[in-house]
Amino acid sequence: MKGIHVSVMTDEVLEVLADIREGWVVDGTVGQAGHALEILRATPPEVRLLAFDRDPQAIEESERKLAPFAKRVRFFQRGYEDLPEVLEQAEIKAVDRILLDLGLSTTQLDSDRGFAFDHDAPLDMQFDPDGGLPAARMIRRISEKTLARDLKELGQVPASRRLARVLKERSRRGAMETVADFVDACREVLGPRVRKMDSATLPAMVVRILTNRELERLDRFLACLPDILSPGGKVAVLSYHSGEDGRVKRAFRSLAVEGGWSLPYKKGLKPSMEEVSRNRRARSARMRVAVREEVGS
Ligand SMILES: C[S@@+](CC[C@H](N)C(=O)[O-])C[C@H]1O[C@@H](n2cnc3c(N)ncnc32)[C@H](O)[C@@H]1O
Repeated sequence: MKGIHVSVMTDEVLEVLADIREGWVVDGTVGQAGHALEILRATPPEVRLLAFDRDPQAIEESERKLAPFAKRVRFFQRGYEDLPEVLEQAEIKAVDRILLDLGLSTTQLDSDRGFAFDHDAPLDMQFDPDGGLPAARMIRRISEKTLARDLKELGQVPASRRLARVLKERSRRGAMETVADFVDACREVLGPRVRKMDSATLPAMVVRILTNRELERLDRFLACLPDILSPGGKVAVLSYHSGEDGRVKRAFRSLAVEGGWSLPYKKGLKPSMEEVSRNRRARSARMRVAVREEVGS
């Protein structure tokens, strides 16, 4: 049976972001619209939403789910890192609340787009299927050295050099085209399990991050925050991986050090044990919040 996507830390998201009576909220990763729907329900009609996702299927599904609120929502099949250009085109000077819920949704995991390895599919893994190179081609293009480094640094994958060598070698002879090819290579180098996980789990996460250039996009977004968030505005980022969370932590800290920004939760927020027991996806989540102070406060 296909799983449904259960949004993570919704109570905390609402507490931090749904405290306004008017203005613009951005959901930069609208996904299955779980958070977006609750934000719209919790705020008055004067609060409007800009919903972004790179995945056209996520936008389609969100449009359906948010239909009762259609007058309050504008959808963009764009990356959240494009916010400055989108706001300029839409003649919106600044926004008041921003949410990013990084990573991928259960719906994507269940699709035939190569994100999961319990069923075979072409090795694609792109959030936007028209937006760049499928994972199989990314592996063909990336150097063995960079792939080995990223497997190690982003995924703490053991034997990362040997795995990179095998992935590249199979890719050169046209044997790295499907999820089954990828899983085979991981099994051969790493055995069936790594740290109690399927041995393909961490390499697949790294390949997905590289395929979608997720960290570069996050960096671009973090750098443009002072240009797009209004005074009194708040941004909340939910990450599931230390590579992402570390970037968010450093970027928020440097805003606070430069002045005019505060960080209400020094170590970020984590989901309750009760949430983790009901939703496995929540177990690695951490939410960081930055607040732009009012002018003159
Ligand atoms: C964890 S899901 C979001 C789930 C959503 N918060 C909900 O409650 O239904 C993450 C979403 O982010 C999207 N995504 C990933 N990178 C993106 C980017 N750079 N810009 C916009 N969307 C992105 C993915 O396509 C996916 O739909």
